[in-house]
Amino acid sequence: MNNHTKSQENTESFVKYKWEWWPLLPLYPYGQKRTLFKELIPQQVWCLEQLQGLYYVAVPVRMTVVKVNGGLMLVNPLPPTPELLEKLYLLEEAQGPVLSIVLPTASGLEHKISLPALSRSFPNAEVWICPGQWSFPLNLPLNWLGIPSGRTKIIEKDGFPHSDSCTWISLGPLDIGLGRFQEFSCFHKGSKSLLVTDALVSISQTPPDLFDLDPTPLLFHSRDRGDQPLIDDPENRQKGWLRLVLFASFLRPEKLAIPPLIDVFRYAFKPGLRTFKSHFGFFPFSWQEGWQESAKELIGKQQSTIQIAPVLERLVFPRGKGVLLSWLDKLSSLNGMRWMISAHYSAPVRFTSKQANTLKNKISTRPWAIGKGNWQFLDSLDKSLLRIGVVPKDPQSGFKD
Ligand SMILES: [Fe+2]
Repeated sequence: MNNHTKSQENTESFVKYKWEWWPLLPLYPYGQKRTLFKELIPQQVWCLEQLQGLYYVAVPVRMTVVKVNGGLMLVNPLPPTPELLEKLYLLEEAQGPVLSIVLPTASGLEHKISLPALSRSFPNAEVWICPGQWSFPLNLPLNWLGIPSGRTKIIEKDGFPHSDSCTWISLGPLDIGLGRFQEFSCFHKGSKSLLVTDALVSISQTPPDLFDLDPTPLLFHSRDRGDQPLIDDPENRQKGWLRLVLFASFLRPEKLAIPPLIDVFRYAFKPGLRTFKSHFGFFPFSWQEGWQESAKELIGKQQSTIQIAPVLERLVFPRGKGVLLSWLDKLSSLNGMRWMISAHYSAPVRFTSKQANTLKNKISTRPWAIGKGNWQFLDSLDKSLLRIGVVPKDPQSGFKD
């Protein structure tokens, strides 16, 4: 390949993966995002995935596309890069127009940040949002956030999107101090699948396919010191994936120590690693023995389990387990449910009404929102927020619409 063709290809990819609003929420991979398109349930459900994360703790975020009467519904917006739009336009040609864009969560910033840009890309689509949208530090009106109020409806208050094709079930609301936690899950009758945002996850044992497009976050975290190069091989990808999952789930897992600053500097700026990609050799982490066991405990030893994400259990539902149980109770009465498709990690995963009931029974009997082991950091965070009065003692009675 000559230099001219190479630079032309670089320019084309730069344009294709461009996400110009990245400074609004500066998460990896910043202004250049690759998108993976998949058909999840033949002729019924598709998804687009992009990486999103802080300091290479990047996990796939998913927008789900669902076949509804007369066209398509987009659930959980993603940044509309030219590549993502090209894939959606192709799907529209085969399945009909995008009729609606749904933001079914009140709190997940990573899902709401791209709603304004995505709705501008589909000017004829109806926009549906979960009630109680909040922005931090100021609670701004919808138009100020770039959400087109003229064609925006509030879920429940103004009805439900495509209620002929879908049943919507609310999880929450709960008062979490700075705002509300609420998400609407969607049972799509055509595919018998339940769409959730953050409530439930099933973490795969191996890295998701999306990392084939960019394995850098896995390789970055597979190392033990900042002077080690990023080497792409299956073993390092696997090691990086398990560590990344521990980070994303517990923020500061038990087996992770922060080395003294002097050590971090000692191994930084080594030849070959003075690049932004390797964060100039800065690697402020030190993994202790036993971290693999701790990852297996979370993911499941033989096969992945469907679970409530630890961050939610310890920071959102520590005093609101009843709300979660009543949501699971509603799921267990859904007729013919077969799949769960969440906005993070594996999808679709087998999930029946019977499994929802088993999960409900397990949650109601097992120790809840503990403070030991991997949970210590989340526990201390919750206790501090409670002590300074940021989060209420009783999230249900304190809630005001
Ligand atoms: Fe999320």
